[in-house]
Amino acid sequence: MVLLTGHNKIKTAVFISGTGSNLKSLIKFSKKKVSPISVDLIISNNPKAIGLNYGKIYKIKNKIFNFKNKKIAEKNLLLELKKNKIEMICLAGFMRILSKNFIKKFKGKILNIHPSLLPKYKGLNTHQRALNNKEKYSGCTVHFVNSKLDSGKIILQKKIKINKYETANSLSKKILVQEHKLYPKAIFKVFNF
Ligand code: GAR
Repeated sequence: MVLLTGHNKIKTAVFISGTGSNLKSLIKFSKKKVSPISVDLIISNNPKAIGLNYGKIYKIKNKIFNFKNKKIAEKNLLLELKKNKIEMICLAGFMRILSKNFIKKFKGKILNIHPSLLPKYKGLNTHQRALNNKEKYSGCTVHFVNSKLDSGKIILQKKIKINKYETANSLSKKILVQEHKLYPKAIFKVFNF
């Protein structure tokens, strides 16, 4: 096994829009000696994202991009990524769809986590839709990002049982706990650890 030190870890940007609990788990993971990545930049489309606090706590640079004009946002975002020598992107609750052009520039280097067993329940409201369909199981998926929504090659999934009295809220909490474990595992898998 190759140990990567702080200097030769893969420079990673994490994109968020909200709470940032996956960001926190990725930062904690990145600080471990065995982690192949370092989190060097936090990107948010939402200036009020609670997750931006982790930038302050862990002293990681963060930048906000207003996606109302996606073309301009992505152009500036690409410049920022280049300036910080970012090699990999982890989407962690980032609620904007990146353009084909942007994805092409980071082909095979963008990962996403989604709270369902893809290809089931792409998009929003996953938990409620799974409950409405009386699913017995749900879970989470880490996958490569391609130009179609929640559709790239699957890296890892974790399946969990839906209980009789489950609500969208309880299911979301239960799956989030698994997401925090699954994302680091998927990163290990990507780097063949
Ligand atoms: C997570 O459940 C993540 O899987 C989901 O948003 C939540 C973000 O939580 N992402 C998507 O639905 C993307 N399609 P967090 O901000 O606490 O990490």
